[in-house]
Order: sequence, then C-alpha cells, then structure tokens
Amino acid sequence: AQHYRITLLPGDGIGPEIMAVAVDVLKVVGEQLNITFEFTEALIGGAAIDATGEPLPAQTLEICRDSDAVLLAAIGGYKWDTLSRHLRPETGLLGLRAGLGLFANLRPATILPQLIDASSLKREVVEGVDIMVVRELTGGIYFGQPRGIFTTETGEKRGVNTMAYTEAEIDRIGRVAFETARKRGKKLCSVDKSNVLEVSQLWRDRMTQLAAEYPDVELSHLYVDNAAMQLLRAPKQFDTIVTGNLFGDILSDAAAMLTGSIGMLPSASLGEKGPGLFEPVHGSAPDIAGQDKANPLAQVLSAAMMLRYGLNQPTAADRIEQAVLRVLDQGDRTGDIMSEGMNPLGCRAMGNALIQALSGG
Ligand code: NAD
Ligand code: IPM
Ligand code: MN
Repeated sequence: AQHYRITLLPGDGIGPEIMAVAVDVLKVVGEQLNITFEFTEALIGGAAIDATGEPLPAQTLEICRDSDAVLLAAIGGYKWDTLSRHLRPETGLLGLRAGLGLFANLRPATILPQLIDASSLKREVVEGVDIMVVRELTGGIYFGQPRGIFTTETGEKRGVNTMAYTEAEIDRIGRVAFETARKRGKKLCSVDKSNVLEVSQLWRDRMTQLAAEYPDVELSHLYVDNAAMQLLRAPKQFDTIVTGNLFGDILSDAAAMLTGSIGMLPSASLGEKGPGLFEPVHGSAPDIAGQDKANPLAQVLSAAMMLRYGLNQPTAADRIEQAVLRVLDQGDRTGDIMSEGMNPLGCRAMGNALIQALSGG
C-alpha cells in the first residue's frame, strides 16, 4: 500500500466546511485504491493569528515542509482586515508559498457540459473552453522591494510596491508553461504589459527566447488589458496562458467565471522540489461562512490535483473527477452553480452525494 503524509490547512471562513468534504472523499478513494493518508492539521491565516498571534507560525511551515503534500482551503476574513500588513492572513499564505518555493501556480479553467447554463456567458462562447493559466507565484509586485507606506519630505504619505522579475525567475516559470502547453494543445499565450512596463519587456524577450527550445509549441503574446477582454469575448482561442503574479491572480478569477462559479476552480502550486500546495482559486467567502452553503467542489478538485500532480496517483485523481461529473449529471448543485428551478444542496449534502457516487451508489 502507498502511504502519504498530508498537511491539512483548513484556514478561515468556509475553509473548514469544504476541507471536511475533501478529507472524506480522500479517505474513501484511499480505501478503494489501497492508499493510506496520514493527515496532520496545522494553523494558518486568521485561525493562526487567533491562536498564536501570527498568520504563519514557524511550526506550520515545518509541518508542511515535512509532508508529501499540503492541502489548503482558504484564509482571510473581515475580522483580520484591519491588522497591519505583516499580521494579515494573506501574508501568511504568501509566506507559505515563498517558504515552500512554489513559483508555479497551475489554474485550470475547464467548462463542464453540465454547467454551461451556470456560466454568465452564452453557451456558444463557453462550450468547450479548456484553459490552463500558469501564474508566477513567488515574484513580481507581490514580493518586489521596496514596498511600504512611506512619508515624503512634505509629510504626505506615499504607498509603494515594486514589480520586478529577474531573467531566472521568468525562465523557470516559462519552462513550466512551455512544458504544460506541450502536454496540452501546444499553444502558449504570454500575457504582459510590455507596451508600458520594462519588467514586462524583459518578460516578453525571455519568453520569445525560450520559444526556440520548444519549436512544437506556438507562442503568442497579448497585453493584459486585451487578454482580459479576449477571455470574455472568445475564450476558446486560449489553450495555455503564462503570466506574472498579479496579472495571473486577476485573469484566473475572470477565467473562473467562464466555468460558472469560482466555487469550481482548483489549483496546484509547485516548486523545483519538495511538497506542492493544492488549494481552490477562491477565498474564504466570509459572506456565506458557517451556513453550509459553500460549494466544496473546488476543494475536492484540488485534492484531485494533489493526487495527480503532487503524489503521482492519476487513477485516484480520475476517480474523484469522475465522481464530480457524476453528481453534476444527477443534477446535484450548490447555490452558486444552480440554474432556475433547482433546489440547492448544502456543502455537507454535496459531500455525501460525492461519497455515494464514489461508492458506486
Ligand atoms: P472570495 O473568493 O472569498 O469570494 C468571492 C465571492 O465568491 C463571494 O460572494 C463568495 O461567497 C463566493 N464564493 C467563493 N467561494 C465559494 C464557494 N466555494 N462556494 C460558493 N461561493 C463561493 O473572495 P473575496 O470575498 O474577495 O475574499 C474574501 C477573503 O478571502 C479575503 O480575506 C481574501 O483576502 C481571501 N482570499 C483568500 C484566498 C486564498 O485563501 N487562496 C483567495 C482569495 C481571497
Ligand atoms: C489567490 C488569492 C491570494 C493571491 C491572496 C489571498 C493573497 O487571491 O490565491 O488567488 O492574491 O494570490
Ligand atoms: Mn485571487
């Protein structure tokens, strides 16, 4: 039997609710395929602030480093929004990504036939959409120096962040993107703002250089404003997209809505070596937390990505993805993906439906 040590980071808001469903699903699939999981829960985000005073306790990073993979739900909430920067839940998540060296964030946006009517776009626009956003995750304006709120000579406050990328940072995310595109539709679109920003000019130059090593992949470039527009106008033109940290954050939320709901989108964050981090694209949804309304499918599909990309267990990943399709075929919907005339299931009930589907019932 295969044995894996998984760190669970339920975090805040709907985090614990959706994590409970993913863990149940993993246990059932594990039993069926003779895989055992040893789960260790650790604190991050607001939950960690409340318990220890910091959003990423050193112990949490240790536990994560020491595991085979990390499954995170979401962090953040109103309660912690007024804390200073270094104490915010979001800073804990950024510290975790940086601390594990997770520079490559894969965010697939695939439209499932069952959910076409849940998309806010027309059927003919979204039918068949299958996009992979490769987002750089440990550089760019999220991490560039200098940063801070400074006081100028005139006594006025000035907020500063810096968008910076080195050639090495661009090349390593570029390689992941070209390799990813090679395994998919062999089309890579690099998104930047090189008409205005030097950092983007370097980005575009490096991507163009790298393309010579991947003659089988067709590279194109778009400015980020146009890319946002094209994603909504004609999303089927895209196969793989590679972009920096901030642009990738924004474009992946936009891509999420093509698929009907951000509650459907998983992600994988990978580094050179060591455990990967698997988490939904969405946040802690404080507006619906504690009400059993959250869609657990992004979390469950993140667990599937963990099996596929982090643990090399594609059969187990397939099983989970099949179960998701099956419950959707049955018409099971949480509120965020429901069409008119349907009765919404709660988070827990959706979890039970998944377990039934996995067990062949
Ligand atoms: P959000 O993604 O949490 O919520 C946006 C909207 O989508 C809300 O209306 C929410 O109810 C809905 N939604 C999100 N996930 C859902 C799900 N699984 N099922 C049903 N509906 C869902 O974004 P936000 O409101 O901008 O941010 C809330 C908090 O989450 C903030 O503190 C933010 O910093 C944090 N955040 C965390 C992560 C993360 O942990 N990776 C990602 C994004 C935002
Ligand atoms: C995401 C989130 C995070 C980000 C925040 C919570 C730090 O929006 O994972 O998309 O901006 O990367
Ligand atoms: Mn985001």
